[in-house]
Amino acid sequence: MDFIYFLGRFHVLVLHLPIGMIVALFVLEYLSRKERWRYLDAASPYLWGATAISALVTVLLGFMHFAEGSFTGASGDQHRFFGTITAVIATGVAFLRVSSFASTYKPLFFPASLVLLVLVSITGHYGGNLTHGSTFLVEYAPQPIRSLAGLAPRRTITSVSAADPFADVVGPMFQERCAGCHNEDKSESDLVLTSYAGVMRGGDGAVAAGRSSASARRGGRGRTARSPVASTTAIATSNRTDRRASIPGSLRAVPAPSDAVA
Ligand code: HEC
Repeated sequence: MDFIYFLGRFHVLVLHLPIGMIVALFVLEYLSRKERWRYLDAASPYLWGATAISALVTVLLGFMHFAEGSFTGASGDQHRFFGTITAVIATGVAFLRVSSFASTYKPLFFPASLVLLVLVSITGHYGGNLTHGSTFLVEYAPQPIRSLAGLAPRRTITSVSAADPFADVVGPMFQERCAGCHNEDKSESDLVLTSYAGVMRGGDGAVAAGRSSASARRGGRGRTARSPVASTTAIATSNRTDRRASIPGSLRAVPAPSDAVA
């Protein structure tokens, strides 16, 4: 199974081939309809063939990558669905394009390349959600766009006492360093670190609210306090929470480091 996972990870490399080829196909099919660029048509069957093969290989590797089992959310299902449809359509049209009936179906090839372009864009969007989390694109967007995506305004904290322990301190750290693998759609070890609820739920149970010692022991999948990963989260989330009744709350009770700027 390890070897399947090994091959599966090449999905994220190979997937760029069909994307590029579909874009090229769209341009080629568009131009070759014009008298001036008609000669490009000769390349069309080869490009359709290459697109189909690269799409099939990508989907095959994608299924191997999925086999790792950490892609649990809706984006994973959508990504797989649209990716598979893209490969099936590309293959079907490629067969027509290289067949002896190609001239009969000539008017079909340009619209088909447009359909593939739309499908591959949708597939890529859901794939992006998996690797970067669904808020990656809009994180630094102007607030009206952030609001459309359901994100609260970015806050600038000027005083430690006004900071919310999760929203302003721990959450952004997780977002920056951990969200790529522990988001709603791709939750390694079933651990979601992009929301307060997700952190408190824990993975296979890494965090015990208010009790860092218990958190470290509950490292998940049989981990113990010796697990550096589990302990890191436990430390990050619990050191502060141990000292107060609940979060989100305020950082007032935490003594400021001696070198803190007032
Ligand atoms: C490159 C991907 C990746 C990133 C980034 C990542 N993790 Fe993980 N994390 C994993 C994988 C994979 C596992 C499962 C490992 C295993 O089962 O052996 C895991 C497991 C864990 C676990 C154990 C969960 C449990 O209950 O079993 C914790 C805790 C954890 N990660 C915390 C973090 C924190 C905190 C960060 C950010 C500082 C982070 N991870 C960033 C991939 C990642």
